[in-house]
Amino acid sequence: MNTKKLHYFSGITLSLFIGVHLFNHLTALFGASLHMQVMDALRLVYRNPVIETLLLIAVLFQIISGVQLVRKVRKQSAGFYPKLQIYTGLYVAFFLVAHTVATVWQGRQVLQLDTNFYYAAIVVNALPAALFFMPYYFLAVMSVFGHVAAIHYQKTQHLSVIRAQKHAKLILIAGVVIGGLILLSLQESYQGIEIPKEYYKTLGGAF
Ligand code: HEM
Repeated sequence: MNTKKLHYFSGITLSLFIGVHLFNHLTALFGASLHMQVMDALRLVYRNPVIETLLLIAVLFQIISGVQLVRKVRKQSAGFYPKLQIYTGLYVAFFLVAHTVATVWQGRQVLQLDTNFYYAAIVVNALPAALFFMPYYFLAVMSVFGHVAAIHYQKTQHLSVIRAQKHAKLILIAGVVIGGLILLSLQESYQGIEIPKEYYKTLGGAF
């Protein structure tokens, strides 16, 4: 199997986690406590040492193989969707490194925090951190959806270009809506809660 195929299959594996992860964030629209209950249930699966190790290996493999593929195809890729695939892929690679280090290593090991709703919320509720973290999270969700839209377009354009474009646009709109809703759900004012004091130590410089 070549790098491209392996990148595709490891991407599918990661997409399963990302889909569940973003769904978990959306449950916060119905309250931070529901979000944390759902997260507790999901953690039984993805924090299982075997599954978490496989997930972290898939993250690492996805980044390395993605960067290799970008170097290979960069010069031949003309057109909006091939370019969108490359740039969104590069952002997802950057985000996966920063975000996994921030949650798994910094949040859990260094700061000894439960990396739950409050850990995600503190950085979008405090200034000036929010000026960085709002676009940082929004672009992450957009890049995941943008990457999928670009792949979907290229895989289905031979059937009908117009339909492929329409579907790709709908996937992009879903990214904007979901990214916006997740950021809304993280607002203290939306939830009517106060973030516990111990989470303020995160503002020392976490991603
Ligand atoms: C608005 C967007 C997002 C927020 C606020 C967010 C927040 C979080 C938080 C709080 C955790 C810790 C979960 C736990 O302790 O159980 C986490 C874990 C993680 N997130 Fe996100 N996330 C977001 C989007 C994403 C996206 C788009 C990706 C993928 C591209 C992603 C990939 C991961 C990964 C790989 C982990 C580590 C899972 C583990 O091994 O424990 N996240 N995220």
